[in-house]
Amino acid sequence: MIKMSVIEPILTKYIGKKDYLSIKKVLNEMNPADVIQDVKKSNLRGRGGAGFPTGIKWSVMPVIPKEESKEKSNKEITPITLRYLVCNADEGEPGTFKDRFIIGKMPHLLIEGMLIAAYAIGARVGYIYIRGEFASEYRILKNAIEEAYQENYLGENVFSKFLNTNKNFSFDLHLYRGAGAYICGEETALLNSLEGKRGEPRIKPPYPAKFGAFGKSTCINNVETLATVPAIINIGAEKYAKYGTAKSGGTRLFSLSGHIQNPGVYEFPLSIKLKDLINHCGGVKDGKKLKAVIPGGGSAPILTAEEIDTLDLGVDYDSLAAAGTMAGSGGIILLDETTCIVEAASVLLKFYEHESCGQCSQCREGSHWLARLFHRIEKGEAEMKELDLIEHICSNMSMQTICAFADAVVGPARSSIKKFRSEFEEHIRIKCCPFKKQKEVSHVL
Ligand SMILES: Cc1cc2nc3c(=O)[nH]c(=O)nc-3n(C[C@H](O)[C@H](O)[C@H](O)COP(=O)(O)O)c2cc1C
Repeated sequence: MIKMSVIEPILTKYIGKKDYLSIKKVLNEMNPADVIQDVKKSNLRGRGGAGFPTGIKWSVMPVIPKEESKEKSNKEITPITLRYLVCNADEGEPGTFKDRFIIGKMPHLLIEGMLIAAYAIGARVGYIYIRGEFASEYRILKNAIEEAYQENYLGENVFSKFLNTNKNFSFDLHLYRGAGAYICGEETALLNSLEGKRGEPRIKPPYPAKFGAFGKSTCINNVETLATVPAIINIGAEKYAKYGTAKSGGTRLFSLSGHIQNPGVYEFPLSIKLKDLINHCGGVKDGKKLKAVIPGGGSAPILTAEEIDTLDLGVDYDSLAAAGTMAGSGGIILLDETTCIVEAASVLLKFYEHESCGQCSQCREGSHWLARLFHRIEKGEAEMKELDLIEHICSNMSMQTICAFADAVVGPARSSIKKFRSEFEEHIRIKCCPFKKQKEVSHVL
């Protein structure tokens, strides 16, 4: 079920619209450096998970040599000027469904955001890599791209009839469908998959800005990051920034799931407190007591209800990082008092075990081992010393692999034991799950 609500909609007010006002303003009034400057001022941070400042990411794209920088039609692009903008629409993080919402309800806003980003970084070709399972969103986006070509919003010399000056800006956009692998959301695995190779992360450096898709300089951004850019241009960078905190500007879309009264996609300012956000979404389902929250998608370390209350936690990137967790993909999963935390963590670890690409042995073996250990504890088959074994495995996985997937596995494993150790010990002591009668968690996650 998709719902949305916000104190003042910034992004979601574009639902169903295709006016392309911001790109027209950009092409009429701004040069690429102005656009990058505005995005920097807005304090927009990547909505894909890592929260990297978008303006900085755009500004580190290598400078196009002067003689190549004059606008040319696509046919004249030399291998030196060829660079790509890639939109990461592979959304697969457990508890996250806001990119799917954007594509379904505001596909033209994403296309407009890509046009503005491409203009800013000097890309003339873009790709949207969409998750294989998003069948209806694929069709919606495909239609929207066709419409945009018909209107000359995409292709050669776009928007020429609306412009005061001849910008001769051209942009071609390709839609590429993934094949259902969570790891292809990791940006370099995505690039390999886009090139028709096995979807395995690449060793970095070189980073995509230098050596990206097909060996060319590439900028990769999340769907929501790109769809936010037209709103920044429209309302102004300073005003947009003020909706958030000092280092996390604006609003963001949150996916609310689990034991929340009104699940769905919501837009909230990044200055809101987690407690208030939960209340806005109806609070804990059926008036039950809150036990824990996973605040940034399945890989974010779990928070106890007490931490949320006593720390008066914000939902911005820095507040959640200071509390030892992360804002991640903005997927907030509520767990009420009836939840068995061992089972909840076990469900997540089963997912990660299945999705490890297997390239790094620490991740391939570690994720499998953790999933089995959590399952054993949940079933009452484990011994107390296995809790220490879990910590040993986690320390051999964290920061030891090519990509951050292994840390995504460690997040729920380590934090659930750290915060709810007595619950794990009880499973081992009584040799079964003490929550047996209220098992619903597999449906919640
Ligand atoms: C295992 C893994 C899965 C990821 N999945 C996604 C995803 O589904 N969508 C996404 O936008 N970013 C995902 N990311 C983050 C991307 O690698 C990348 O940081 C992001 O697309 C950059 O865009 P942004 O700067 O706009 O956030 C994932 C990262 C890892 C390590």
